[in-house]
Formats: sequence, structure tokens, C-alpha cells
Amino acid sequence: MSNYHIKHLEEYFQVYRKSVENPEKFWEEIAEEHFLWRKKWDNVLSWDFTKPEVKWFEGAKLNITENCIDRHLLTRGDKTAILFEPNNIKEEAQHITYKQLHQNVCKMANVLKSKGVQKGDRVCVYLPMIPELVYTVLACARIGAVHSVVFAGFSSTALATRINDCDCKIVITSDGSFRGKKTIDLKGIVDESLESCEGVKTVLVAKRIQSEITMKQDRDFWLQPLLEEASSECEPEIMDAEDPLFILYTSGSTGMPKGMLHTTAGYMVYASYTFKNVFNYTENDVYWCSADVGWITGHSYIIYGPLANGATSVLFEGVPSYPDFGRFWQTVEKHKITQFYTAPTAIRALAKEGVDYVKNYDLSSLKVLGTVGEPINEEAWHWYDDNVGKNQAPIVDTWFQTENGGIMITPIPYVTPTKPTYATLPFIGIQPALMNEEGKEIEGNQVSGRLCIKFPWPSIARTIWGNHKRYKETYFSAFENKYFTGDEALRDEVGYYRITGRVDDVIIVSGHNLGTAPIEDAINEHPAVAESAIVGFPHEIKGNALYGYVILKDTGESRNQDNLRKEINQIITEQIGPIAKLDKIQFTEGLPKTRSGKIMRRILRKIANNEADNLGDISTLLNPEVVEGIIKKVLN
Ligand code: WTA
Repeated sequence: MSNYHIKHLEEYFQVYRKSVENPEKFWEEIAEEHFLWRKKWDNVLSWDFTKPEVKWFEGAKLNITENCIDRHLLTRGDKTAILFEPNNIKEEAQHITYKQLHQNVCKMANVLKSKGVQKGDRVCVYLPMIPELVYTVLACARIGAVHSVVFAGFSSTALATRINDCDCKIVITSDGSFRGKKTIDLKGIVDESLESCEGVKTVLVAKRIQSEITMKQDRDFWLQPLLEEASSECEPEIMDAEDPLFILYTSGSTGMPKGMLHTTAGYMVYASYTFKNVFNYTENDVYWCSADVGWITGHSYIIYGPLANGATSVLFEGVPSYPDFGRFWQTVEKHKITQFYTAPTAIRALAKEGVDYVKNYDLSSLKVLGTVGEPINEEAWHWYDDNVGKNQAPIVDTWFQTENGGIMITPIPYVTPTKPTYATLPFIGIQPALMNEEGKEIEGNQVSGRLCIKFPWPSIARTIWGNHKRYKETYFSAFENKYFTGDEALRDEVGYYRITGRVDDVIIVSGHNLGTAPIEDAINEHPAVAESAIVGFPHEIKGNALYGYVILKDTGESRNQDNLRKEINQIITEQIGPIAKLDKIQFTEGLPKTRSGKIMRRILRKIANNEADNLGDISTLLNPEVVEGIIKKVLN
């Protein structure tokens, strides 16, 4: 028998040991007993981090939607699979059963086929958090198409980049989206981006906000009438274990966003197994992850992980502040939520509004609370624990990345004693290492270093779409024979991990990864800007906010600085999205550079963090004299 549901700490250590001493045997047992295969594998694992190449369950045949939907039909056909909670509180929630999910996914799959989508094709999904989003994602998987979900808060430029990078021929979107009191013109954004996406021949449009939009003849089609006509039966395409399942873009420190490619079998096994244990999931639970499906957390822990376990997963369209700051807690009470999983930013924002919004609701159904996406500070952790969990629901501080596919370091609730701000112990099968800058592993406890993983796990991304070289350089070149996360971590006296932050030029703002380079490129497009540099600085709610240092061109005219700031943020919003706007913009005469011309962000970061008295030796800079000027004008 495999250890699919870990119940106590001794069992965790025992299973962990097994998973590390004989990973192939361990994962083979999990895969064999808990999933539906059309054909078993010939080989459990082959890997080589120097290439890098990783293959799990090679030779196996399956379809992930059979595992997430069909196999539940007999035993759980009338159970709610997706519980849709709309933005507007007056609109009724929808309980979509496994049977209905099956029908809708099959219909959507048939619509995609009728528009010429074939196995291996990439499908861009740019939808709000509505049931059609889940249907589309699963419909792609049903027919072997590769979904590329783009978060519907990204701008038209960002969307176009992602459509073109993986060559999507079709986009699924909606007339618009609801976001609290606002509506967003998603179709308009799609139209704009398609001006630079020649490959897109078809756009399917779900009706959501009933707005007037223009439909381009022979390109744009309303989804609903097509769905109504489509058959509700669609045989699943039988896929190889290593066939691509999806592409999901994440920001890098330089250049283009990286299209992380995940494949089928290993991803399914790991997303499912982590979901079961990290949320202590049992049959009658009502589980809610408030992330957007546009991020990896939504892929693995709204859709694939929960559905593979036959769970009820809440799909929330709204925002935490609408109609008021009690929305999360009201929804917990309304649906008797048992597991609630959100981001530290949301917790901090709600904590700031006071406990009255929490007190009004009965939260006694909660048995597990989770956080993800960024470090959680001690104060927010305790606020969550005291006011939401009433010290009864353990908090799982889960660490992972788009590249990882599933949760990597986390407590297991009711198993691992928690410790505020600590993600605690590696999940089963995960072998972390802390490395020093000379490339040596740091052994022992009470140490900190760069976080690497020494051994492949089933859901590791296999490549960056179209750029394997970059995949190797980014993740497998910093440390020999190890996957490098880009994060720094410390290990305490008992071996618990605390993730302390990024060591590269990625800044996590409100849980969103932002690369400095694309933002600087956007700023530099402003005609008055000569050069710019972005750093992060601590922000009470967002975790980090962005601080921009901008050198203006000497045009002889004087410009109103506040207007310039607005214009710069406007360009960023257009090129990337509102999440990348700068909180502070300091105009400066120069930027500190090394003799080879590289901007010294370390110094800029310290200045923005009010640590200018601790800059270290700056005499080796090309232009140490600029530093004084920057410090004088720092914005507080
Ligand atoms: C950060 C999100 C501290 C980390 C699932 C990582 C965290 C990046 C945590 C990946 C956590 C994620 N504690 N930091 N519990 N979870 N991070 O790809 O820096 O959007 O590298 O995946 O978020 O962000 P991504």
C-alpha cells in the first residue's frame, strides 16, 4: 500500500525517507494505486540535470481529464466539482457537478475541434474566473491541445508577447470581466493585441458582462451558441506521459517572459498527491483557493489537484474588497469552506481593515488555512491564525514556483508543527539543498544559502517553450547538477526552512513575479527618459513595492515631474499591466555602475530601503560620485 494520506509526523519521516531512498519505487506505487492509466509505463524515471532532461513514467498512456472527471462519474457524478461564486453577491452561486463538468468539457472540446484545434496545438486562454475558464482548460487537455492561460489582468502588449511566443492560433476570451465595482473590456484588449498576432485565426468569446463589443467577421465567434450545438460526448485523446499539458509564462530577471512547459503524467501525480496531503483533504470538504487560474497555484490547486481527488473546488470571480472587506469570510460561512488558501498580500490588506469584518461571520467550518506566493510576515501570520483560524486551523505556508508545478516545501496540517514565517519541511520526494556562493552545499542547521533542489520530482517543468538553452542557463547552470530556484532560504535548528526572498532581479509584488528588465524597457520607451533602474522596497501590504530611478534626457525643456511620473506609470500599465506600476519614481542625474557598465542594483536597493549608511565599499564603482546625489533626493 502506498502512503497516499499522511496522518502523523512519524509517518511523514518514514514516507519521506522512502521517497528519497528509492524515489522510483515510491512514485511508482503512488501512480499505480491512485490514477487511471490506459497503459502503464516502461520506465519510472530517467534524468540528467546537465542536459537538462527529466522524464517520468515514460511509455505510459493516459488522459488527465479521465483522471479529473470521468473516473468520478460513477461514484461522484452528482457531487459538486466546481462551485462558482460570482463577483456580484446577488448573483446565485453555481454548483457544477462532475456530470455537468463532463458534459461542458466535452462540449467545449468539440467546439475547439470544430475550429480546427488539434493535438499539440497551443491555445491561448484569456478569461476571467468563470466556469468557461475551467471548461476550456480541461477541454484542451481532453483533446491533447496545450493550454496557455494568460492572467486576464495582463495588458494587450503582454498578451500579444505570450500569444506569439508559443504560436497560438486561437484565443478564448470573454466580452469583459467583472472586478468588484468595475468592468474590464477584455475583448477590446484581445482586439488590440491581435493587431500584432498574425497567427491567430479564431477568437471564441464567452458572454459575461453583456457589453457591446465588435466582432470581427470570420475571426470572432460567440461561444455559447457553439456550445449549445456541440455534442456532450468527446472521447479523450490518449496522451503519452511526457506529452505537453500546458505552458504558463513567468517573469525572468531579463528579457522575455519564460513559457514554462509542463507535461502530463508527472504533473498530474504530483499536483494530486500534494493537494491531498497539504490540505488534509477528505471527501466532504469544500475547498477554496482564492488565486487566479492565470497563475500556477490556480492550475494546480483550483483545477487539476482538487479534481484529480474528486474534490469540490470553489471558483471565485470577485475580489476580497467587494462589496466590502468581509467578502472572503462571508463566502467561507456561506459555503462552509473547510480549506482556505490565499496570498499573504490579501491577508495583510484585510488585516488593515480591522477584525470587525471577520467577526461577523461563522468560520467554524475551517480546518486548514494556507498561504502561498511570497513570504508571510509574522504579524500577518498571527492575524490569520488568531482571527480566521481561531488558533484551531493550522496554517500551511506553502512554497513553490511556476517551474515546480506543485508545492515543494510546506507543513502538512495536523502532522507538521507549524512555526510562523516558516514553510517548514520539504514535501515528500523533495530534496532541498542550501548552497554558498562558491557552489558548495552548506550542511547542518542554523544556516542560510541559495535554495536548490538536488533530485527531480514528478512535476518539474521540462523546458522553456522554444528556448531550452535559457532553461539550462537559468535553472541548471548556477550550481552543478542542481535545480536553482533563484530564492534564498534559511534552515533553523530543527531543519525547518524559511524562504527569505529572491536573489535575482525578480521582485515579488503582491505575490506577482515581476522582472526588472521588462519594466525598465517599458519606462525607457518614454521619450523623455534616458535610462532607468528598478528595485524593490518593503511595503506594508504588497510585501514589496517598486522604486524606480529614472534619468531624464537633457532636452532643455523643463517638465512637470508629477506628470512625468503619471506618464511613466501609464506606459508600464500598457506594456505589462497595472500590477507593475511604480510606487515611487526618483529622477536622478546618474546610476551607480560597475566598471563594466552594469547597474549596481544592490546599492540602489539599499538606498530605497533607507539603508544608505550601510552601502559598503563603493570606491570601485565607475562613478561613485553619483551615489551621494541619489541619497540626497531619496523619496520616503
Ligand atoms: C515566492 C507561486 C516565500 C518565491 C506559487 C518563489 C514564496 C516565487 C512562497 C514563485 C512562500 C512562493 N514563502 N516565498 N510560501 N511561495 N514564493 O512562480 O520567491 O508565481 O520563487 O509561483 O514566489 O512565484 P510563482
